[in-house]
Amino acid sequence: MPDYTDILTETHGRVGLVRLNRPKALNALRANLLAELLDALKAFDADDAIGAMVITGNERAFSAGADIKEMADASAVDLMNRGLSDGWQRISAIRKPIVAAVSGFALGGGCELALLCDLIVASETAQFGQPEITIGVIPGAGGTQRLTRILGKALAMEMVLNNRFLKADEALAHGLVNRAVAVESYLDEALALAGEIAARAPVAVRLGKEAVNKAYELSLAEGLAAEERAFYLLFSTEDQKEGMAAFIEKRAPIWRGK
Ligand code: CAA
Repeated sequence: MPDYTDILTETHGRVGLVRLNRPKALNALRANLLAELLDALKAFDADDAIGAMVITGNERAFSAGADIKEMADASAVDLMNRGLSDGWQRISAIRKPIVAAVSGFALGGGCELALLCDLIVASETAQFGQPEITIGVIPGAGGTQRLTRILGKALAMEMVLNNRFLKADEALAHGLVNRAVAVESYLDEALALAGEIAARAPVAVRLGKEAVNKAYELSLAEGLAAEERAFYLLFSTEDQKEGMAAFIEKRAPIWRGK
């Protein structure tokens, strides 16, 4: 990995970890941070030794959102030319699963970044919110759409229109996060969860992620058809033959990602 300024990268077995690393700015997502994040995620995505990724911040903040100081004087055309939304879309195009390990503030673009991930492990101190309304705008990286699909209209409206924060226990109760755990262990839990997924059949994991995400894009009939094709496709993999043979022979499968 290159020397990044706004993130740190590590590997933990088959898990690639990206730490957002602008602690003084509560990990505000300036353009350079997003570019580095995307670069690191793409490198992990292309690396056969990696099966899943974790994105985290620090205990105080996962991220307090887009960098307001960088955005404040921008025109609409500036924002278009910077291609910010391309960056977000490219993160959502990463093929391997991404777990967000969230502690403290996950606000604005920080909340939206967590929502772009496939699973979220929250510390009990996590707070999810879309405070853009307090600075005269609305979420611009998927918040209005993804929160509404996950939480429903009532709560999404409160968050977007009235700066309502969701604490970790509420986020868990509403299905926004997978786990809410002690602050001491949220990163370990996220790494463990990512590690378990990274040890599973890689092609099936990739197609499983793709199929679940299609549920947000397609009609039920189209989604079922996409799932059916992906299911059939897996019967062309060595891992399907291995997985079913191992079951019948009562032994652990050895996945080859082929
Ligand atoms: N952008 C740039 N800098 C930020 C930032 C942000 N989103 N959030 C925090 N910071 C900076 C602060 O300016 C401050 O820097 P200085 O020390 O240089 O003044 C430092 O981080 C620490 O922040 P605070 O002193 O404000 O810390 P606090 O504990 O008093 O408050 C907070 C914490 C409630 C999270 C507060 O920082 C805050 O409200 N941040 C902004 C949250 C926000 O509005 N996010 C939405 C951004 S817009 C967006 O994300 C659009 C989109 O959809 C893509």
